Amino acid sequence: MDFKNTIADILGSDAIKKEEIASSLAPTPSIDKGDVCLPCFRFAKSLHKSPQAIAGELKEKIDASAHPLIGKTAVEGGYLNIFLNRSEAVKEMMSAFRTNGGVTKPKPKNGKTVCIDYSSVNIAKPFHIGHLLTTVIGGSLYRIFNYLGYNAVGINHLGDWGTQFGKMIVAYLKWGDDADIEKRGVRALLDLYVRFHAEAEKDESLEAEGRAWFKKIEDGDSRALEIFNKFKEITLKEVKRVYDRLGVKFDSYAGESFYNDKMQPVIDELKAKNLLTESEGAMVVDLEKYGMPPCLILKSDGATLYATRDLAAAIYRKQHYDFYKNLYVVAYQQNLHFKQIFKVLELMGKTWAADCVHVPFGMVSLEGQGALSTRKGNVVFLDDVLNEAVEKAAKIIEGKNPELHDKEKIASDVGIGAVIFGALCSGRIKDLVFSFDKALSFDGETAPYLQYTHARCRSVISRAGVSEGNIDYGVLTDDDSFTLVRLLSSFDDVVGDAAARYEPSIVSRYLLDIAAVFNRFYLNCRIIGEKPDVMYTRLLLTQYVAEALKEGLKLLLINAPDRM
Ligand code: ARG
Repeated sequence: MDFKNTIADILGSDAIKKEEIASSLAPTPSIDKGDVCLPCFRFAKSLHKSPQAIAGELKEKIDASAHPLIGKTAVEGGYLNIFLNRSEAVKEMMSAFRTNGGVTKPKPKNGKTVCIDYSSVNIAKPFHIGHLLTTVIGGSLYRIFNYLGYNAVGINHLGDWGTQFGKMIVAYLKWGDDADIEKRGVRALLDLYVRFHAEAEKDESLEAEGRAWFKKIEDGDSRALEIFNKFKEITLKEVKRVYDRLGVKFDSYAGESFYNDKMQPVIDELKAKNLLTESEGAMVVDLEKYGMPPCLILKSDGATLYATRDLAAAIYRKQHYDFYKNLYVVAYQQNLHFKQIFKVLELMGKTWAADCVHVPFGMVSLEGQGALSTRKGNVVFLDDVLNEAVEKAAKIIEGKNPELHDKEKIASDVGIGAVIFGALCSGRIKDLVFSFDKALSFDGETAPYLQYTHARCRSVISRAGVSEGNIDYGVLTDDDSFTLVRLLSSFDDVVGDAAARYEPSIVSRYLLDIAAVFNRFYLNCRIIGEKPDVMYTRLLLTQYVAEALKEGLKLLLINAPDRM
């Protein structure tokens, strides 16, 4: 938003730095209070004045500047409220869109790499509803950082190591049916896993057999690896199909097993730095001083742990990618794990430990789970959730617009978009109860509502059939048009904020705002049938709204069809 800089230029001084003003300026709660406001509370302490007095002084300063962009100003409590001079501001913002070729524009590469560890599924385990949040939050952050000019690296830290794979091999050799596995994929593997545990209760020797097969995997036995790699292939094939549906992408599938040969140097380094202590036969890093339980590095039998692999992985990522930030989009249940890992890295003297960030999120459950068609015990496959959403979307479309061209593709965009938006529309730390009916509603805070608003913009534009004309900025100074222009001009700020807070829902809320204001504008400001300049100006604004919705939805992994 350029006018933020203008205001900061006018108000900045030695006492309050320009940058501080620019970063404090905020939208007003409502348009009758102005367009931007400056809360003066944070300057009070250093200036030894009341916020109100500071707001008063700043008001005088800004009024005295008589800058063409600034209109009325007012002090309210500790706030300085500023009204922009609408015709000037509209001209400035709309001209900026026109020179940039639109509202949104991916930024040039800034040379900084952001590693994003997300989704990180476990081999031979179902890809279930519990993976929805990590997958779409991570996938969205991936697009958001790329948009802002970072080089995002998507990493799927596969859970592909552990004694359970020895057990899986035993189950496969005893009861596995290749044709069934071929047909039902991970579901068949899951049945084998469940069967192993049921049979192991009756027959203790199975556990020992499982351990023996895991030992073979560790020793690189070719038969063991062949079967294990088959599990991996089956899982990845299925998972990747869902990733394609969700539009998420990974640059690396280096999972836990990738670090098998990268942990010894880490253990040596921990030893050399006197960080390892023995505790009941195990080797740990004592973190008592930091109010945390010890971080387990080696079990008493010498086996490495989840934490050991994460330490090796972080060090590898720093060496390999030289990241600016290293993010872990993992459920809040692992808060302690990441706090421990980051602390151990810090104790090892890795200054970049401060650039490692755990991005936690809440739990997902389905409203009325009983209604789901395919369930295995308590597992709800993500693929089934997507299928169900697409089916429901298809029914809605059939009811609303049976003549629609390309119905199947649109049902898929709407159904899958609804699930994704359902996951990304509220703050990530909140637990989520997913409801198909709510997510698929066309007039709630949903993807279909945003997609529909986008399609509505496109439809007006194509119906108008005008591609050239004169702009009359004065047409855009009413409340609805002006609010819309102002909202659009903060697109990049909003995306930047979402990145800074690792919070895609900031983009979601923003798109809902745009859609709401556009729909008001559409109701109050006639487009087709107006005089050419008026029509053209409003169409141009409509075009910018469509573009912002489309690009914004894309940052949330959601497609915006032109027709619905
Ligand atoms: N596979 C793990 C799980 O399902 C998540 C891995 C997260 N990433 C990591 N580097 N620890 O809990």
